[in-house]
Amino acid sequence: MNFFRLVLLSLTLIPCTLFAQHSAIDKKVDSLLSLMTLEEKVGQLNQLSSDFAATGPITKDGDKQDRVRQGKIGSYLNVTGAARTRSLQEIAMQSRLRIPLLFAQDVIHGYRTIFPIPLAEAASWDLAAMEQTARIAAVEAAASGIHWTFAPMVDIARDPRWGRVMEGAGEDSYLASLIAAARVKGFQGKGIGNTDAVMACAKHFAAYGAAEGGRDYNSVDMSVRKLYEVYLPPFKAAKEAGVASFMNSFNDLNGVPATGSSFLQRKILKGDWGFKGIVVSDWGSVGEMVNHGYAADLKDAARIAMNAGSDMDMESRAYVAHLVELVKDKKIDTVQLNDAVKRVLYKKFELGLFEDPYRFSDEKREQAVWNNPAHLQVAREMARKSIVLLKNDKFTPGNQPLLPLHSGSKKKIALIGPLVKAIGDNNGFWSYSWPDDSTRVVSLWQGFINKLGNANSLTYAKGCEITGSDTTGFTAARKTAREADLIILSIGESAIMSGEAKSRSQLQLPGVQEQLVKEMVATGKPVIVLISAGRPLVFNWIADHVPAIVYTWWLGTQAGNAIADVLFGDYNPSGKLPITFPRSEGQIPIYYNYLSTGRPFKSDTDNTYVTAYTDLPNSPRYVFGYGLSYTSFQYSSVQLSANTLSKGQSMQARVTVTNTGNYAGEEVVQLYLQDVVGSIVRPERELKAFEKIRLNPGESREVIFTLDPTALSFFNEKLELVAEPGLFHVYIGGNSQATQKASFTLL
Ligand code: GLC
Repeated sequence: MNFFRLVLLSLTLIPCTLFAQHSAIDKKVDSLLSLMTLEEKVGQLNQLSSDFAATGPITKDGDKQDRVRQGKIGSYLNVTGAARTRSLQEIAMQSRLRIPLLFAQDVIHGYRTIFPIPLAEAASWDLAAMEQTARIAAVEAAASGIHWTFAPMVDIARDPRWGRVMEGAGEDSYLASLIAAARVKGFQGKGIGNTDAVMACAKHFAAYGAAEGGRDYNSVDMSVRKLYEVYLPPFKAAKEAGVASFMNSFNDLNGVPATGSSFLQRKILKGDWGFKGIVVSDWGSVGEMVNHGYAADLKDAARIAMNAGSDMDMESRAYVAHLVELVKDKKIDTVQLNDAVKRVLYKKFELGLFEDPYRFSDEKREQAVWNNPAHLQVAREMARKSIVLLKNDKFTPGNQPLLPLHSGSKKKIALIGPLVKAIGDNNGFWSYSWPDDSTRVVSLWQGFINKLGNANSLTYAKGCEITGSDTTGFTAARKTAREADLIILSIGESAIMSGEAKSRSQLQLPGVQEQLVKEMVATGKPVIVLISAGRPLVFNWIADHVPAIVYTWWLGTQAGNAIADVLFGDYNPSGKLPITFPRSEGQIPIYYNYLSTGRPFKSDTDNTYVTAYTDLPNSPRYVFGYGLSYTSFQYSSVQLSANTLSKGQSMQARVTVTNTGNYAGEEVVQLYLQDVVGSIVRPERELKAFEKIRLNPGESREVIFTLDPTALSFFNEKLELVAEPGLFHVYIGGNSQATQKASFTLL
């Protein structure tokens, strides 16, 4: 047989093999299902948290282990560690049908090795790097008995008052979709069933990030078209990437709680998209439909949620209390119940847990992967890439930018501020504190010592706390500053000021931190400000008066080393903002891909009879896609492969980028598209492609983007994905205000 025929045969064999595996598991699921009592089926849909690390309000309910023996619990969350998961699995093996437990955990941005918070990672625009950190998180979690992570969170968020912006990929659907797919692939690796892979979970389905007022858990109201255009794409991308599960969301969408929405779960997810995995409710969200005023009581909530397609009930105990009765009363169709149970059993077979329930609970493997120096190196590299340089103006005297610093210089550096010696805060929200964290998490202070080899040229003053009005620390800070040649301030939020249930009505720096900065600037010494937070903050005075500003988010285990690498020029910052930074909370919601309106503003100060505020410039403080480098990049004009495009054809756009500065550096070349006239008004511009390139000083590179028909398409009034004839503008540059422009017409 010639080589070509051999290749063809093997290609046909792959899907057949996969299909064969799937149908083999289907057969096992069906035969097991036929042996199960109604009570045992319902037990598989009951997920409880262990009490040791609850991530929501817990209900004491007696001896959970006995319920495991009775087959009344199908999954646990917040049980971790090879030993602990093994011991609970041993109890599950005492149940009548010996059905193993699924162990789940919120492994959001690392497990033992903590990576930058997801919003910070998104600022790297490095999809391969984000896949890699998810991969490592899976390796570490899987070695500790975890089968299932409740990540990636793929909620689009345009409101930084919402604390969970830290957990996602920012405001743009295109970028967030690519990141969602990368993270799913990272967590699931070579596939469910490998003992270094975990089931991923796309959450929170859907539109949880659009909570009114940026207030967590609040109502969401939007057109279905906007839902399809802005909020669903990252979920669709996760599904296409093979995500094993979805989690529905706490919010109501247009008056229907997502957990009880058959439109979301049966029509879109399981119907149109053909999703075959597990849908789990969010913590107590089944029972919370009573609070929503959508269910009369817990039994009614169980009925609604099951009929709507919510397979597993996390922590509300509605299913285990009422589903048996509801089935007997024919309020729930056994077909739907069986479908939910089969989805859960399928994953347990796919994970190999029936062959070996303990295959993930391996203490030797756990120790081996937990202290893996290679993981720390990846964490350091990811942290570097996540840092965003917001400002690096020339400072007088010297008339030079303050950054990068030079480790060889003898300058005395004062490190001042409440976050200089912070340790656990660097891990951000959704990270687990381990006993020896202080030896593993590198503070800013330690990062500088590691970089310089000692603390001889360093001095320190805390200055103030993160919160509170006490300024008594300013005196020592002023003294320390006066004795130094350079002041580096480390300020921001505390890690738990952003995250779940952490909405803030105002985004200023908490406490007296801004006053501390003013005191430091008043010394006349050069000042660099590092801001750590899980969200965009508002810091206008600093932005206007401090020559160098670096956004350091929450960077994880290697934070201090990564920040020192950037400040001392061992890594040239390349981060670009994945979310708009407002000048004021009054501008929110503010995002780059806005519609022009009938009265668009023409400039920052244009505010008469145009869509604008009379008391604020129209632009945000920092735009989506913005970030500086120690070098500079020049963009040539945009060349298109044609000026007209026939339907179904693709267009190429090319630009030459040159490093015109003195440092090698990376640039995220971004392409934005404007569909000038549409049957639905289209945004001023939308991100449609990007490429991160590295250039040496003086080096030029041509970057070529291909725009296929999908890039020109949008959901019309009938929710059809269409590309409409007409004029399109292409903008290419280093942020969403790119000015290099070319136009073409779609015929
Ligand atoms: C929380 C979060 C969800 C998380 C779950 C389990 O309330 O909303 O993202 O996965 O409960 O911790």
